[in-house]
Amino acid sequence: MRKLLLHNIGLLATPQGFAARAGASQGEILKLENAWLMTDENGRITEIGRGACPETEPGAYRVIDADGRLVTPGLIDAHTHLIFGGWRQNEFGLKLHGATYLEILAAGGGILSTVRSTRAASEEELKAQASGALKEMLSFGVTTCEAKSGYGLDRGTELKQLRVIRELDREWPIDLVPTYLGAHAVPAEWKEDREEYIRRLTEEWIPEIAREGLAEFCDVFCEKGVFTAEESRRILEAGKRHGLLPKIHADEIEAIGGTELTAELKAVSAEHLIVCRESGIEAMAKGGTVACLLPMTSFYLGSTYAPARQMIDAGVPVAVASDYNPGSCPGLNLQLAMTVACLKYRLTPEEMLTAVTLNAAAAIRRADRIGSLEPGKQADLVIWKARDLDYLPYRLGSNLAYFVIKNGEVVCAN
Ligand code: NIG
Ligand code: FE
Repeated sequence: MRKLLLHNIGLLATPQGFAARAGASQGEILKLENAWLMTDENGRITEIGRGACPETEPGAYRVIDADGRLVTPGLIDAHTHLIFGGWRQNEFGLKLHGATYLEILAAGGGILSTVRSTRAASEEELKAQASGALKEMLSFGVTTCEAKSGYGLDRGTELKQLRVIRELDREWPIDLVPTYLGAHAVPAEWKEDREEYIRRLTEEWIPEIAREGLAEFCDVFCEKGVFTAEESRRILEAGKRHGLLPKIHADEIEAIGGTELTAELKAVSAEHLIVCRESGIEAMAKGGTVACLLPMTSFYLGSTYAPARQMIDAGVPVAVASDYNPGSCPGLNLQLAMTVACLKYRLTPEEMLTAVTLNAAAAIRRADRIGSLEPGKQADLVIWKARDLDYLPYRLGSNLAYFVIKNGEVVCAN
């Protein structure tokens, strides 16, 4: 691979460091005007500077002129349910007529309806549907994406989902990070014996998935009518025993104690947190947990918004992700999430940039490799159709990504 020299960068904007940024430092962004960036032959950043770029041997570098534009790290979508069969547009009408998310789920719809279509789909069909999503994500500037299972809820289908994630990771420039979410709901066949479902999950399926190296994280939907805090603890502890790091869907609709588990579990991230309480925020601060917030889900569910400012004030690092899924957020435009995060969480554009880059990297344990532009990190970056940082969240819903570069290579041009 040829080394890269990216020059004539109007503004290079990036958080800095190899770990999540919390509190006031979440808003500290390095801004270099008239900058350049160089990589080695492995797509790793070697040097960044301002003004005239260093003389290079002719032909040694692939030279790209950024034309005076804004350059940031590639976006990281730290929470998606990428792999699923079918769609659920039928629920849209039900919602408009007042049915709530949990009512639809309790009636056998919602997640359980996607479980039926995911079980029925072949591996090829799941791959084709997710490939369409990855193509769109890449064009929006996403260079790394977390992907959860959780629409199989039986051994075979969960393994099928995780295998699809592994194959797509190999085939697409976007790096995929796999999470096992077998505890997304109790499937219909175990409704009368949820204890046995949890037993199989913790004693059989988690060990098998960990052994096969099919997931890095274990996640649970801790919610009223889904999994209790106590059940979530058992499941995440089982994951930990087998090397799967804990994440938790908590406080999305009702606060039932999920976020409060993060301190003792040392959870890598807690996600949603729409109705998170003070005690949850304290637990995350104690556990070193990243709060992964999903503003488009609040918008789509018509709910309130997570108390992001309180989290930042309490020293909890905030990440922002899409939550792409067929129910509560059938959208993957992370740029739109960035706008909603600024407007509804009152994040500054600087805090927001950290939320979709370095803190998102920390939410998937990759802050040592990606999430910022500095020597030693992978050259994953976006050249924007923008000249300053404010312009990104200011524009509503347009795709402003111009060139997307992954590991020093151009992987998408819009
Ligand atoms: O993150 N909350 C649970 N899981 C998804 C929704 C899944 C679905 O409705 O299919 C979420 O919102
Ligand atoms: Fe989710």
